[in-house]
Amino acid sequence: MKSAVVAVAFLAGIGLLAGCQPAAQKAAAPKEKKVEPKKVEKKKSATERFRTALANQDKWQKACSNPNQLVPEGIDVETFRKEMLATVKFPPGGVLGKDVKRGEKLFGDPKKGGRSRRGNCYACHCGDPQILACGNIGPSLRGYGKRGIDPKDTYIKIYNSWAVVPCSVMPRLGYHGVLTPEEIADIVAYMHDPNSPLNK
Ligand code: HEC
Repeated sequence: MKSAVVAVAFLAGIGLLAGCQPAAQKAAAPKEKKVEPKKVEKKKSATERFRTALANQDKWQKACSNPNQLVPEGIDVETFRKEMLATVKFPPGGVLGKDVKRGEKLFGDPKKGGRSRRGNCYACHCGDPQILACGNIGPSLRGYGKRGIDPKDTYIKIYNSWAVVPCSVMPRLGYHGVLTPEEIADIVAYMHDPNSPLNK
């Protein structure tokens, strides 16, 4: 009986100690935790990638980074477009890719909800009439392939939209390496295909 009491007292003692320890750890814990966000930053958080991009703007990006998003005065628009056009790299197989389905997926598909994280065209454009959640920052691309536009011009527009409209809000998808030339060619094929839902 006596030993049982001792054992209980002993256990209670451990319990007390154990009860104290986490409290002591808790006090020390915030210091240790502060180290963690730094580790995340080393992996390049979205914020840091954004800051790096801001610090490494090319000269035209700098020119366009003004509250109006317009070409500022004193900038020669023709030189601007020529320099942007010179950045466009064409795929060896030509501007009309072979994989129309991949083009559709890059344009917006993710199972027809349209939220491709690559091209993400529906963020700003409408197109496939089945996809209702579409943006109107850019013009509708419904029936785009029936307008007699040269596929090469479509390719250039997607690769580097500023070769056409300087300081446009449309991202320069090829220029920034978001899409490869081959991927852009597949998007062009999708946009110009008479059987594409865009053109029905
Ligand atoms: C952040 C918004 C935005 C995104 C994303 C975007 N665009 Fe645009 N796009 C625009 C705006 C604004 C215009 C009109 C001004 C211009 O021509 O740059 C435009 C114009 C165009 C034009 C010319 C339309 C015409 O009638 O002449 C084409 C083609 C085009 N976009 C294709 C695409 C494709 C394909 C994608 C996806 C790979 C895409 N855009 C993604 C904003 C966007």
